[in-house]
Amino acid sequence: MTTNSLTALITGGTSGIGRAAANKLAQLGIHVIVVGRNAERGERTVAEIRAAGSEADFVSSDLRDASSAREVARRAVEFGNGHVDILINNAGIFPFGPTHEMTEEMFDNVYSLNVKVPYFLVAELAPLMAERGKGAIVNVSTMVADYGAAGMSLYGSSKAAINLLTKAWAAEYGSSGVRVNAVSPGPTRTEGTDAMGEGLDQLAAQAPAGRPATADEIAEAIVFLATDRASFIHGAKLAVDGGRTAI
Ligand SMILES: NC(=O)c1ccc[n+]([C@@H]2O[C@H](COP(=O)([O-])OP(=O)(O)OC[C@H]3O[C@@H](n4cnc5c(N)ncnc54)[C@H](OP(=O)(O)O)[C@@H]3O)[C@@H](O)[C@H]2O)c1
Repeated sequence: MTTNSLTALITGGTSGIGRAAANKLAQLGIHVIVVGRNAERGERTVAEIRAAGSEADFVSSDLRDASSAREVARRAVEFGNGHVDILINNAGIFPFGPTHEMTEEMFDNVYSLNVKVPYFLVAELAPLMAERGKGAIVNVSTMVADYGAAGMSLYGSSKAAINLLTKAWAAEYGSSGVRVNAVSPGPTRTEGTDAMGEGLDQLAAQAPAGRPATADEIAEAIVFLATDRASFIHGAKLAVDGGRTAI
């Protein structure tokens, strides 16, 4: 797959890890379509990418169910002149806290954005990629889907579902030329983790690297898996967690 004339859809492409991935994909000449709720942030992201000479569009959507996922997929295919070659399932929310403090509403919100939306985006876009005989999907997971961590039951379990779906989708669509992989980040400095303050450093201190990642460091791995440099990698989960899950 050469990168020119490719289109990539990045959910949550207007902030943090998603925006870093959008910038890097755009630098390769890939037309990026970023999705988020906040129009101002979306337009700013797109303006920055265009100012650097690349192609970008913003789709405003509150992704929360199958119909919003289908609508975003439809608009992305339209922007991509009939095709979306790369899907980055990145948008996610991560409320932490003990199980007994999680409400049903929080449960539904987490599973809707973190699991249901990727599920139905793949349901829409993977068959179109398969028809063309090529495509790449990268799911953004988390290291806390790999071990039991107090206060992360809801979030971690939603991403554990994504880890299994990564393998299931690799099995379903791989023989049609669609590669499906996951990146599993450790603590990363983004707008989304700003509020964690020193808590992020404390979490990061448990890993060999001993510090939080930058969004760019996670985005490097996403771009690797999304492009032909990873042409023989199917169904893998790449830990980009400073070594936390290695110890
Ligand atoms: N940062 C970390 O330490 C870390 C570690 C491991 C894994 N991750 C995973 O990495 C991914 C990105 O994290 P981040 O820290 O970069 O997050 P972030 O800075 O909070 O950005 C989240 C993005 O998702 C979008 N979004 C949130 N809710 C949405 C909704 N209902 N509909 C559409 N878009 C929505 C946001 O845009 P709007 O607000 O405009 O909607 C924003 O673009 C997540 O899946 C997260 O679980 C992060």
